[in-house]
Amino acid sequence: HYVGIDIGTSAVKCIVVDEQGAVKGSHSAEYPLLQPHPGWAEQHPEQWWNSSAACIAALLAKTGLSGEHIAAVGLSGQMHGSVFLDEALQVIRPALLWCDQRTGTQTAEIERVIGPDRLGRLTGNRALTGFTAPKVLWLRDEEPHHYARVRHLLLPKDYVRLQLTGELGMDVADASGTLLLDVESRRWSKEVTELLGIPLSWLPPLHESSDIAGRITAKAAAATGLAAGTPVVAGGGDQACGAVGVGVVRRGIASVALGTSGVVFVHDDAYTADAAYRLHSFCHGVPGKWHRMGVMLAAGGSFQWWRNHFAHEELARAAAEGRDVYDLLTSAAAAAPLGSEGLLFLPYLTGERTPHPDPEARGGFIGLNLRHTKAHLTRAVIEGITFGLRDSLELIRASGVAVSELRLNGGGARSPFWRQLIADVFGIPVVTVNSTDGPAYGAAVMAASGASGRSIPELCEAWIRVVTREEPIAANSAAYEPYYETYRSLYPALQTAMH
Ligand code: XUL
Repeated sequence: HYVGIDIGTSAVKCIVVDEQGAVKGSHSAEYPLLQPHPGWAEQHPEQWWNSSAACIAALLAKTGLSGEHIAAVGLSGQMHGSVFLDEALQVIRPALLWCDQRTGTQTAEIERVIGPDRLGRLTGNRALTGFTAPKVLWLRDEEPHHYARVRHLLLPKDYVRLQLTGELGMDVADASGTLLLDVESRRWSKEVTELLGIPLSWLPPLHESSDIAGRITAKAAAATGLAAGTPVVAGGGDQACGAVGVGVVRRGIASVALGTSGVVFVHDDAYTADAAYRLHSFCHGVPGKWHRMGVMLAAGGSFQWWRNHFAHEELARAAAEGRDVYDLLTSAAAAAPLGSEGLLFLPYLTGERTPHPDPEARGGFIGLNLRHTKAHLTRAVIEGITFGLRDSLELIRASGVAVSELRLNGGGARSPFWRQLIADVFGIPVVTVNSTDGPAYGAAVMAASGASGRSIPELCEAWIRVVTREEPIAANSAAYEPYYETYRSLYPALQTAMH
């Protein structure tokens, strides 16, 4: 058996799979998100470790497995978060997370010092507030007493690895989101670290995701129930692991992870970056491969906002009839006409990353008239989120990658209405697969690869099957086109008003 652990933003999730890839059990444990100031987001690394240890122990107890049954462990985690450690490997302060927006000044400094083009050539990416390097410079500027003590920098899941194995290490997929990696050559960028004054010695040894990066220590065995000596593979950031978890491991297949954020992810056999670096160009969790992705910040998050504040009737009905409130909302949306009779929704409720790297972008409904009902507004929210995702797909297409199949996962994948809508708006078939544990499943695949020597694509081929498939309906695709064109024109037209 193999264990996959995903250190998420709201909870840690652990799963165990057998030799055929079947999920035999899962367990999760929540932890708080600290927001000491508006725009800040932090967590205590110790909390990740304590929750992970308890979660693994609970998973083993639940499934009746003992540590000896587990051949390897894989790690996935929220990306970009900064874990600052001192000489004695002690945590200096809570980690700044991927969704923390405090680093505007430092992000601008990086673009100014290195220049966006040179930075793009060196790292494959632009400087964004969520990435790790600006967080290091924020510590230098705002908490110099902490900065003076830093000797090691890790990402969230790598702190859990340190507790499990005693080893410092990081995989190239997650390291891609630090802005300190030369993504093309899969090595730390000496040039970028020098230009930013960040010592190379702070950065851990790099691995490919399926490499064995350490073994369970006696202390970790006592805390988790795993057997001492069990191999722990390097794993990856949650996007690379999520993509492996649905089998996006060859060219032509893309995925959309429709959770709070919405990520359009495509596998690349070779390193590529678009000219303006609007997509993230990262190393994939498949050794020697790359991927690109567009990240929309409030995808499911926009729909959740709509549910929380404008769906009182549906919430009451869902509670009374024991139904899912999202089912009721998507049924109502399905009854409104395609294109919502000209009503468009901009989903930039928490700013945006792709295609508009603008933390101050804002949402809105445009085109309201007296005929519009709540069903139109609900449908417009779903259509607006889908148009936002299509913007990322268009950037991928513009770089010459033909996408022939889209694998959908996350909460939004449960709705047949939304799956069809995506197929229609994107003009490609949308499928879902049998593995629905996303990043944790990808981490388990990486563990299996590291322990068995079978490649990640080979394991995905053997373990992951398509279970639903929606083909685009040509008439609908054509009908959406003018609405999408209008949607695209709105951000540039309204940008000044948003700021
Ligand atoms: C990816 C990103 C998010 C976090 C969420 O760039 O910021 O997907 O990894 O956990």
